[in-house]
Amino acid sequence: MVLAGIAVMIAFVAILLQAAYAQKKTAGPAMLKLDGAKLPPVAFSHPLHTEKAKVDCVVCHHKDKNPGEPGGCMPCHDRNDVKDGAPPIKDAYHKNCIDCHKESVAKKVNAPTKCNECHKKQ
Ligand code: HEC
Ligand code: HEC
Ligand code: HEC
Ligand code: HEC
Repeated sequence: MVLAGIAVMIAFVAILLQAAYAQKKTAGPAMLKLDGAKLPPVAFSHPLHTEKAKVDCVVCHHKDKNPGEPGGCMPCHDRNDVKDGAPPIKDAYHKNCIDCHKESVAKKVNAPTKCNECHKKQ
């Protein structure tokens, strides 16, 4: 009885820790907005992409040594210029987000591809 109780408690703590870890792992901005952006910011949900759409971290975090614990895109993608072969951040985002969304739409999974579907007025 006592042992079973301890096992249940350990399992419960493990679930809590796992949830906290998952949240930390995918911590990131919910709204993407570049410096000086004129259009409305773009909503981006990690859980929607990694859990519902099952996109691997490395698909977007494509150059991180450990894609399971990545940093942002800006260290490599400059705001305005090509840097060490990396396209400017706006072009990188557009290619990353829109290419895949077009593929999804072709497979009959609805994902935003038009300007004002991503740059949505609040
Ligand atoms: C799939 C989503 C998506 C679509 C569709 C999209 N964008 Fe973006 N765009 C982004 C993201 C993400 C950023 C970077 C965050 C931000 O908006 O500042 C961005 C940034 C920009 C920027 C630089 C920031 C600014 O506001 O000045 C411009 C300009 C822009 N997009 C124009 C467009 C235009 C024009 C279209 C339609 C032809 C378009 N975007 C369609 C996701 C999208
Ligand atoms: C569909 C694309 C996409 C996928 C898949 C994705 N991410 Fe991200 N992630 C982003 C974008 C975009 C940002 C914002 C980057 C920025 O602000 O420079 C980001 C930011 C982050 C950040 C914050 C980085 C920082 O230092 O600013 C972490 C941590 C992160 N993601 C972890 C993950 C993990 C872990 C996975 C897989 C479970 C994952 N991401 C999957 C696109 C993605
Ligand atoms: C450590 C540096 C680094 C980081 C971090 C990084 N990139 Fe890149 N990225 C590059 C380089 C370098 C290229 C040039 C082409 C290549 O080598 O793939 C590139 C190219 C790209 C391309 C164009 C690929 C093609 O086929 O034309 C996209 C899209 C892209 N990055 C999106 C992102 C996104 C989104 C993030 C953040 C979630 C990100 N990158 C983070 C370095 C980086
Ligand atoms: C590898 C594929 C892939 C990439 C890369 C990707 N997405 Fe998506 N996105 C999807 C799919 C699939 C859906 C539809 C998910 C669903 O509803 O089942 C989606 C849906 C969305 C939605 C609609 C959410 C809603 O609540 O209806 C937004 C907004 C979005 N993505 C933003 C972005 C932005 C911004 C980027 C780039 C930083 C991005 N996505 C990159 C596959 C991708």
